[in-house]
Amino acid sequence: MRLRKLVSFGIFVLVLVIGVGFTSIARGYDYPPPPQQVAIAQQTSDLMLNTLFAALTQEFDETTPDNVEQGKQSISLIFNDHNKDMRLVGTINPLRENDRPRDNFERQANALALAGQAYTSVQQVDDKWYYRRSIPLSNFRAECALCHVNLPTGPTSDWVGALMLRVPVKR
Ligand code: HEC
Repeated sequence: MRLRKLVSFGIFVLVLVIGVGFTSIARGYDYPPPPQQVAIAQQTSDLMLNTLFAALTQEFDETTPDNVEQGKQSISLIFNDHNKDMRLVGTINPLRENDRPRDNFERQANALALAGQAYTSVQQVDDKWYYRRSIPLSNFRAECALCHVNLPTGPTSDWVGALMLRVPVKR
């Protein structure tokens, strides 16, 4: 009898421990990540921005009226639609339908970008925390209008959309 009681108690304690464990894991994922981890993700996004900006600058430097279509394909392959961590977003006659804002962050960021303002947010996307940022883009080069024929021949100071990055934040 004592043994049965002891076993029942043991099972009770085990269930309790597992229950509390799972609840705290589940709740833990709802809490925003700690600021140190956000700062690291932010630094990663700075590195990523510099890399992408260098790549785009290289492409613009090489763009001539003769290779516009190849340049467009090159940029489209780099900004592969399956990659949600880096996107070119805009609403002024976008070259690809996929480049329209896709969620609340992108809608808000695009609206701000058209006024020349950057935007950042730490938020959950599909149960994962991300540092998200948007860098407004202006028609700052003559080459923009070679590919984006709706834009005036630059450089002009018109804001036309944004480069949007997201970096997973560790917990
Ligand atoms: C060599 C051609 C080329 C040049 C030059 C170019 N772009 Fe683009 N741009 C593209 C392509 C291609 C896309 C679509 C990428 C994709 O597939 O998501 C794009 C996308 C964009 C978008 C997202 C909305 C849209 O139109 O699809 C913005 C905003 C943008 N570019 C701004 C600029 C600006 C500003 C410049 C000049 C500083 C520039 N681009 C120069 C080819 C170019």
